[in-house]
Parts: sequence; structure tokens; C-alpha cells
Amino acid sequence: MNMRNSDRVLGLGTALLLGGFVACAPSTTERTSWINPPANPTGPAGSTGTMFDPNNPFPVSTGFAGSGGPVGGGPAGTGGPATVCGADGRPVGGMIGGMGFMPSLPSTVTRSASVVPSISGGTLLALADGNTAVASDPDRDLVYVVDLQNNKLTSTITLQAGDEPGRLVQDGAGRVHVALRKGGALVTIDPAKGTVLSRRDVCSSPRGLAFEAASALVHVACTGGELVSLPAAGGAATRTLRIDQDLRDVVVAPGGKLLVTTFRRADVLAVSADGVVARRTRPQSSSGISIVGTPRNTSPSVAWRMVPVNDASGNVMVLHQTGVDDEVNPTAGGYGGIKGCSAIVEAAVSVVGADMQPVKAPMSFDQVSLAVDVAVSPDGSQMALAVPGNALMPFATVVSGPTSTVMGGGQSGPNCTFLPPTGNSPPQGEVVAVSFASNTTVLAQVREPAMLWRSDTGAQIMLSAIPRADTGHQLFHMNAGGGLACASCHPEGGEDGRTWNFACQGLRRTQSIRGKISQTAPFHWDGSETNFSTLMDDVFVGRMSGPRLLPEQKTALSDWIDTIPAMPAVRGLDPAAVERGRTLFNDSKVACGTCHAGALLTNNLTVDVGTGLMLQVPSLRGVSWRGPFMHNGCANTLADRFGAACGGGDKHGATSTLSTAQIVDLTAYLQSL
Ligand code: HEC
Ligand code: HEC
Repeated sequence: MNMRNSDRVLGLGTALLLGGFVACAPSTTERTSWINPPANPTGPAGSTGTMFDPNNPFPVSTGFAGSGGPVGGGPAGTGGPATVCGADGRPVGGMIGGMGFMPSLPSTVTRSASVVPSISGGTLLALADGNTAVASDPDRDLVYVVDLQNNKLTSTITLQAGDEPGRLVQDGAGRVHVALRKGGALVTIDPAKGTVLSRRDVCSSPRGLAFEAASALVHVACTGGELVSLPAAGGAATRTLRIDQDLRDVVVAPGGKLLVTTFRRADVLAVSADGVVARRTRPQSSSGISIVGTPRNTSPSVAWRMVPVNDASGNVMVLHQTGVDDEVNPTAGGYGGIKGCSAIVEAAVSVVGADMQPVKAPMSFDQVSLAVDVAVSPDGSQMALAVPGNALMPFATVVSGPTSTVMGGGQSGPNCTFLPPTGNSPPQGEVVAVSFASNTTVLAQVREPAMLWRSDTGAQIMLSAIPRADTGHQLFHMNAGGGLACASCHPEGGEDGRTWNFACQGLRRTQSIRGKISQTAPFHWDGSETNFSTLMDDVFVGRMSGPRLLPEQKTALSDWIDTIPAMPAVRGLDPAAVERGRTLFNDSKVACGTCHAGALLTNNLTVDVGTGLMLQVPSLRGVSWRGPFMHNGCANTLADRFGAACGGGDKHGATSTLSTAQIVDLTAYLQSL
């Protein structure tokens, strides 16, 4: 079923020579079974009409790609031919990369009546009885219970507005526990009755859940770094550990160990039974060959989901992204690949053994843009991915294959392997979560209209009639054409923690776009994007090879981005230290507040703070959540910002005379923002 990069490079070369359709796809026989024109060309409910043309179902979008010819360098992240830098300090010319399919984008702008959060994945759980599914709906603050024998919604549980229900887990007594991502709580429901049994405060941002049968505990991993254990039957937490920030998923491993992932760095931590982080590992970095035959080095980031492999091994499977470490060309086509292969960010799966060794190099997948969820069948033989990035592409939104693809792959490079669609009529729309109801039946949850799909019969079970279509949200999560989405680098509306190596510009850390970013124009570190419209022309149409957008589509995206909340304040800070830090920050001699001024703590000016570059003063809201810091990631911790690694001295606020204790206070204040 799989087709490896090496098979394809030859075909691709031919296609490029012919200047025609680039065959980055499985063999013709396979293609007929999975490339079908969207079955619903009028688009999902809530949108009216699309630009989909049934006579030309797969128009090729090149954006501006190639407009200046490939003089400007090699394809994305390849370290190809030497880059020519223009007088403006930008690479000259477009890219050979960046050819992609044109998404079938609705031309009518739709806005959701209430705020819709960025996609997080992992909101669907098939229960152990094989007959019931429970899904949480962060867009509507609902939890659904579905009877799979009769394909019928049996109950809808209404939570508090803004709770944002996320991951779910079933315990030994059949109860289902749901993490409220924004509600900060764990809700326990009785799926048979469709009732809420309890609601317990846990932490500011609960994420992953696991049930440990031996202790009858539910473990909750929190973004703030807490790992909280609560009795499944009810009552107060029995243990709260504070480990790394940005925790994501938790899995119970053999020997009373817990495995925990971090989201952006894609670390896997082993927490021993006595609460100590005993080992750390990460999916492997790898070196390989890009789709056009040039060297390509990637490293892991953004671990969307970790699940057990469901066999005796105790292995876990991590769905994460890989990003290129080679030079990236920040011009037209520079972020994209060719028809979904070799974009600078790809979806990948790694297996990490119970011994904490990554079993193999990550296996990355073609035409799987922005995958947010992975599920493994009860017998461990099959895996499935939810791919909301493909919602507007002629590629499958749910893909699956044997777990042996990644278990025994043995590939040492990014393989760009094809994973076939699930079932005969994969659902349309943004698939946000997957779960196996049996060894052969995959369930998929679709965001809008809210729906559950099953692969065995293709049946669709409506979950809610409340519309939550939103053009801005859709644009943010879709594959623009080059094989990646805004959400690939700004996952959950934040940032991926990566520092890219941009041709002619140097190191540039992905910026966070949380907390009313529209008020901080101009954009990008050097302020070269005057407003959001120019940023979209440059990034979406250009670098990501997307279609040109209407002004109202750009506005819809900008408005939706402005609904992405800032991260909550870090809990557990020493209030006295925060106050002392605030005083220092606003002291005219230390001078932080002269540039980091106003509600968002930026005066929006472009200045040189000793790096030799004119850069935008970044907002400091939520700063402590988004390390590494500074445009080039020179500071791993906030304290490092004051150290030699980031220049030190007095050009970036007057800090050379501050004592260590004062730096600690300033850091505490920064954490409170
Ligand atoms: C390949 C990763 C990547 C993708 C894809 C991407 N971004 Fe970014 N984003 C970045 C990086 C890196 C920066 C900083 C760039 C610079 O300073 O040159 C950035 C900066 C921004 C900023 C500026 C923030 C500020 O404070 O000035 C906004 C807004 C933004 N991105 C929005 C988007 C949108 C909208 C999309 C989709 C159309 C998108 N990004 C796609 C990596 C990405
Ligand atoms: C002259 C204007 C100016 C002053 C004064 C100033 N900053 Fe900054 N600050 C900047 C700029 C510009 C950057 C981005 C620099 C870079 O990334 O290389 C920045 C970056 C930062 C960052 C990293 C933000 C991120 O997103 O990575 C922190 C933290 C920070 N400043 C804190 C402070 C503190 C604390 C003070 C006072 C000691 C201070 N700044 C004084 C302009 C200023």
C-alpha cells in the first residue's frame, strides 16, 4: 500500500520535465479508489456554495510559486542551490516547491455566532462495550453519547459556556471522565444515564487523561505542568506533581510508570511510581532526501497525541510533526511541498518503546496535512489519523493502515509514505478525532456539522444542529495548497516552539498569535508585514501556495485569530516576588516599560536591542508559555534572556546592575503576564 519517496522521485523528475501534473500520489489503481471529487460540492451546512469546479476537480495551485523562476534557491528546506539575496535582504525569486492542489474554498464568508476554539484533537472515545461512543464538543460545550448499535444519539450533556471539553477516558466502573480545557476541571459522567456525576477543579488547563486500573486513579496532565491524580470514584486529588510546562497526554505504562508528553517540544517523559521524572526522550531527528532529491533534515515538534499501542510491549505511539532544520526560503512556495509531499512541516508518527527508546525514526506521511489525532485498534494492528487539514482537499480526511507501517518501518529518513483513506466514503469536513469501535471499525468525529461517521457502513450520525461554521477558523486549519496549514506552525492558535532558519534573514522563532495580535501591527519580527492583508498575501498565497483570498475572507481569518485567548496566568507564583518584579519592570532606570508598554506590553516600534537587527517589540502577554524566547530562540528560559546568550548588557533594558534576586523577581513578574 505504501509508496516510498525513492519510488516517487523518479516519477516526479519526469513530471517536472514535462511541466505537467506532478504525480506525487500512489499508483493509478490506488488513486481511483481514494481520489474522488468532493461528494458534496456545495460544502458543509452553514456555507453556501464553493469554488469547486466538477469539470476540473483537481486544479493545481501554484500561488506565486515559480513566478520568479527557481533562481532564488532550492526547494523548501533543502539546502539546495545557493540563495541569492536581494537588496531588500530577501531571497530573490520564487520556489520550485509550493505546487499543490487548490482547496475548494467556500466563497461565502460564514461566521460562528459564538467563539470557536482552535482544533485540539482527541475528543472521541469508543467505550469498552463496543456499542457506545462518547464525544466531547469544544465548539458547543456539549458531550454526546451515541448508541452504535442503532446509530443513534442517546444523550447530549450540556456543560458551562466556555468549558471547552477535550480528552475523555473510561474507568473500570464504566464512568467517563472529560477534561475541561478551559473550565479547568474534570467532569465525570454516567454514559448509560447521560448525567453528570461530578465536577472537580484540577488545574488551569487540563489536557491528557489516563485511567490506572491498579490504583483506580484518573491521571490528568495539565499545560501548566501539573500531573494530578484523582480517585475515579470521586473526591479530592491524591497527588499533584509539578513537572514540565506544556504537558499534553498521559499513558499508564507497565510497572506503575506514567508516560507524559509535552506538546510543542514533543518530549516523552517517564514518571516513576514515586513521582520522579526518571527518563526523558523524544522522537528521533532524521536526515533524508526531499521529494525533489535534495538533502532534508528534520526534527520533531508538536506532539498532538500519544496513545498506547495496545499490545503487551507497553509501547506508545506519538502523533507529532516534523519540521525542517535546513534553510527555509521565506518566499513564494517556500513553506510548501509538492502536492502534499515535503512541505516544511509534516505529520509523522513515532513509536516509543517501554524502555523509552524511540523504536524507529518518525514515519511522516504524504497528503496528510495537519493531522491532530491518532487511534490504535484494540488488538494493536491498525492505526487511524484524523486530518482536518484535508477538509477542503481531494485527499482523505481519515486515513488508516497497519501499525506495522511505523513499528517495523526501519526507515532512517523522512519517508513521505502514503497512508490510504479509511472506508469507502470518508466524511467531508474537518475530522477532529478518531477512535476504534472494533478492530475493523473506525469512528470519526466531524466538527461542522457536528457528526459521527463510521467506516464500516459509512453511516453518519448527526450530533447537533447548532451551526459553528466559521470561515476564519476554516482558513486557519486548512491545507492552503502547499501541504500545510497556519495551524501547522501555530498549533491551537499559539506557536510550535520552532526557530526556523530563513534564507537571507537568519533565525526566526515562530511568533505566538494569541491574545489580540491584530493590535500589534506591523507583523513579523522585523515588522515587514504592514498589516494582516499583506501578511496573508505573502504567507498564505505566497509561501504556502494558497489561492488568492477575498478581502472579507482575510478579515474573517483576522477576526477569528483575535478570538484566540491569551494563555492563563501561571499558577503558584510568589505574589510578593511578582510585585517586586513589577516595580523593577516599571522603574525608569531599568526601562522595560518604555518599550513593553500598554495593555499588550508593546509600543509596536521596531528597535535594536543589541542584536544588530531592527525588530518589533513583542507583546509580553503570556510570554512564559512560549519559550524559547527572542527572535532567534537564544533564551531557553526567561532568566536566560538576561544572560550572555542573549547579549546581556544594557541595550535591552538596563539589567547589568541588577542582582540575581532582582532578576528572579523580574522573571516572576514576566511569568504573571
Ligand atoms: C512554516 C510555519 C508557519 C506557517 C505555516 C505560518 N506561520 Fe505565521 N509565523 C511563523 C513565523 C516563523 C513567524 C515569524 C516570521 C518572521 O518574523 O519573519 C510568524 C509570524 C506570524 C504573525 C505575526 C505575529 C506578530 O506578532 O507579528 C502572524 C499574525 C502569523 N504568523 C499568522 C499566520 C497565519 C494567519 C498563517 C496562515 C496563513 C501563518 N501564520 C502560517 C511561522 C508560520
Ligand atoms: C528598547 C526597547 C526595549 C526595552 C527597553 C526592553 N525590551 Fe524587551 N524586547 C524588545 C525587543 C525589540 C525584543 C525582541 C528582541 C529579539 O527577539 O531579539 C524584546 C524581547 C523581549 C523578551 C522576549 C519575548 C519573546 O517573545 O521572546 C522579553 C522576555 C523581554 N523583551 C523582556 C524585557 C524586560 C524584562 C525588559 C527590561 C529589563 C525589556 N524587555 C526591555 C524591546 C525592548
